[in-house]
Amino acid sequence: MDVTSKNLVVEKAKTSRIEQIDFDHLPFGANFTDHMFVCDYKNGQWETPKIIPYQPLMMEPSASVFHYGQAVFEGMKAYKDDEGGIWLFRPDENFRRINRSGERLAMPAFPEEYFFEGLKKLLLLDQEWIKPGIGNSLYIRPFVIASQPAIIASPSQEFKFIIICSPAQSYYGGEVRVKIAEKFSRAADGGFGYTKAAGNYAGQFYPTNLAKEEGFQQVVWTDANTHEYIEEAGTMNIFIRLGDKLITCPTSDRILDGVTRKSVIALAEDRGIEVEVRPIKVVELLEGMKDGSLKEMFGSGTAAVINPILGFGYKGERYELPKVENSYAATIKKQLMDIQYNRAEDKFGWRYRV
Ligand code: COI
Repeated sequence: MDVTSKNLVVEKAKTSRIEQIDFDHLPFGANFTDHMFVCDYKNGQWETPKIIPYQPLMMEPSASVFHYGQAVFEGMKAYKDDEGGIWLFRPDENFRRINRSGERLAMPAFPEEYFFEGLKKLLLLDQEWIKPGIGNSLYIRPFVIASQPAIIASPSQEFKFIIICSPAQSYYGGEVRVKIAEKFSRAADGGFGYTKAAGNYAGQFYPTNLAKEEGFQQVVWTDANTHEYIEEAGTMNIFIRLGDKLITCPTSDRILDGVTRKSVIALAEDRGIEVEVRPIKVVELLEGMKDGSLKEMFGSGTAAVINPILGFGYKGERYELPKVENSYAATIKKQLMDIQYNRAEDKFGWRYRV
């Protein structure tokens, strides 16, 4: 496979929709830029990638993805600094992860050079959609779907790798409180909870709707066997602060290896904060509420960035976290965003210039 950027076909949109967008009020993931990247896999190989105007897909109703959910995705962001420079944050992590997810769902690996050349070209074409200023970003959604018209329950032989982009501000519009799962589960040992498979998200919608009816914005999943240990929130990995220690559970085949999660760990350790990566028992939260040692809870993710969790519900009881001085979430979020927006030294080498 030696197609290079010379073979990236670009068809520019005749007009732009950018004037129709209210960049001061952006519901998450509702508006899309003028172009998209598409690459088809057929006859055992990825064909020449294309950038084309953003448009509906023509697919047969028998395409495998509609029946068996053979689909994976990623979430990334592009940031613009005050001089107009465009930056990605650790994009190599997302590239590797979409192929890890794909491998678990019996999909062919996507070539690195197609990914980076296509992504860079797409971002440069739609760069006006990336607004400068902390909090503004372009959310990038690469995804792979099984496109073979065949409803036999076996892996598709045809796929589409697509990248679409959406101007974004915050993911959660307001305060976040979570329900700790007692009955439903997100992932099981030996399953594919660690992947960004579409079905991992669809399976959360119903329990999350029930939690929303009770006034929570998200479910914090617990281990499927005992429901005694905290895992992740589906759109975010979870951190708690007990005393001065920052604690998050280890990743596993049930838990997403979040890029923001591992960046938070590195930034916290770099500040001299003691970080423990170990299983977290739900009772530790309850005890921490009782003795005052539970000082913070927050989620981390590309879309959510670092989002404080103000309270949680468990077994019919509601718990409200105390207000905290010197919040780890706020400090680490600032440090992270300063790196992402090219406002601070990048000592870890995470920034990637487009
Ligand atoms: C992300 O944070 O990028 C994700 O993929 C979570 C998504 C459900 C918005």
